[in-house]
Amino acid sequence: MSQGVITVSYIAATILFILALGGLSNQETARRGNLYGMIGMAIAIIATVSAPGVSSYLEIVVAMGIGGIIGYILAVKVDMTQMPELVAILHSLVGMAAVLVGYANFMDPTISFPTSVEKIIHEIEIYIGVLIGAVTFSGSIIAFGKLSGKIGGSPMLLPARHWLNLGLLLAAIWFGREFVHAAETGGGMQPLIIMTVIALIFGIHMVMAIGGADMPVVVSMLNSYSGWAASATGFMLSNDLLIVTGALVGSSGAILSYIMCRAMNRNFVAVIAGGFGTEGGSSSPTSTEDQGEVISVDTDEVAELLSEAKEIMIIPGYGMAVAQAQHTVNEITRTLKEKKINVRFGIHPVAGRMPGHMNVLLAEAKVPYDIVYEMDEINDDFPKIDVSIIIGANDIVNPSAQEDPNSPIAGMPVLECWKGKTTIVLKRSMATGYAGVQNPLFFKENTRMYFGDAKDSLDAVLKLLNS
Ligand code: TAP
Repeated sequence: MSQGVITVSYIAATILFILALGGLSNQETARRGNLYGMIGMAIAIIATVSAPGVSSYLEIVVAMGIGGIIGYILAVKVDMTQMPELVAILHSLVGMAAVLVGYANFMDPTISFPTSVEKIIHEIEIYIGVLIGAVTFSGSIIAFGKLSGKIGGSPMLLPARHWLNLGLLLAAIWFGREFVHAAETGGGMQPLIIMTVIALIFGIHMVMAIGGADMPVVVSMLNSYSGWAASATGFMLSNDLLIVTGALVGSSGAILSYIMCRAMNRNFVAVIAGGFGTEGGSSSPTSTEDQGEVISVDTDEVAELLSEAKEIMIIPGYGMAVAQAQHTVNEITRTLKEKKINVRFGIHPVAGRMPGHMNVLLAEAKVPYDIVYEMDEINDDFPKIDVSIIIGANDIVNPSAQEDPNSPIAGMPVLECWKGKTTIVLKRSMATGYAGVQNPLFFKENTRMYFGDAKDSLDAVLKLLNS
């Protein structure tokens, strides 16, 4: 392939990646966005391996075959709830690739530069690429360990941890200077290795200090880092497409981290500094006694409440994903709509365990997009709602986020379902949600608790509604 064709292919791939990101911002266009991304990536790979400098096709085909098979097996096997940990471990591979490319580039005897300034710029590119890559690699491994439960979710807070971070950063800068100096006379491997170790320790320390509840932000932040690591690799290899693609991933990951911080009322710097969060997942009930009585209901009462309502809001959460209740939810929605009841869905930006988790499940169950609303679009409508039905959600409907300034989730925007006439909560017990805080919603006068696995409970309700 001539250089001209490669350049045009790279521009086409870049445009397709931008269209892919645009498509992924809306569930109706997400499928198309994915398709654009896949076509863009296919064009990018074909153009890259067809470049004039590439000669060993056998190794490339074998490597792509092995990587492709591993990727396929992982994609088929992984549960939707394990997606964040898969994403985390994949980021670690991007980080590792940046480190390896950096070292390979540094040791490549065939690379020469016409001026010493260009050589220094190239060395700085290598140094920064390895630095970001190593932080991404070790940070992602720890994030994977925490999300998969192999490492405890509670934050590890070393004394003077901020000073330790600052010390590591200053040391990395100092060794950078050493590296550029030593590289002038053909050396530099030693400071590069020392910096790599420092960066690996920094990545481990940074993510270890972050609690379970902030892990989603960390995953998208590592996503952003992996993008910048890829971009740095692009500079090392003088590959424009990798630079642009890395920058797209880096900036979109940073924007997503910001959106998630806003949705959880967390300050981004405070998240990175660490400290908040629990083990993650349902923990045992905490201080339920002083909150009052809960009113529990049975299937008949739930079916009756739903049949008599005119306006229903369904709020799904992580428990719907665990119970895999989305198909029954769709059936119930259809049945209620046939009874001329207005049914809508309210989606919190961090419901579930990954961005867009609920939207993916509802789309899979073929719930029509036009009745699925973002939190900001429907939060003012709750006073007009007859029945809100909370399916395995907890933190995202916790009024203490607004009412209790001392709550760990104080200030987090929540779906204000308690302002409606009746709220039905489906869950198995009084256990807390991801943030590990008790929910006063369950004790409100207009709340009805319907205990049990969400799928079993909804199957029983559907049967009654249809009979
Ligand atoms: P949670 O607050 O985690 O609550 C989920 C509830 O589902 C639990 O209280 C649990 O209660 C119930 N549940 C579990 N399995 C169930 C089943 N089979 N049937 C019925 N109920 C079941 O979830 P949420 O309200 O969706 O809030 C999300 C939380 O996760 C937030 O704190 C958020 O910050 C965090 N987080 C979000 C993300 C992203 S990006 N979405 C990623 C990681 C963490 P029982 O055990 O009593 O059934």
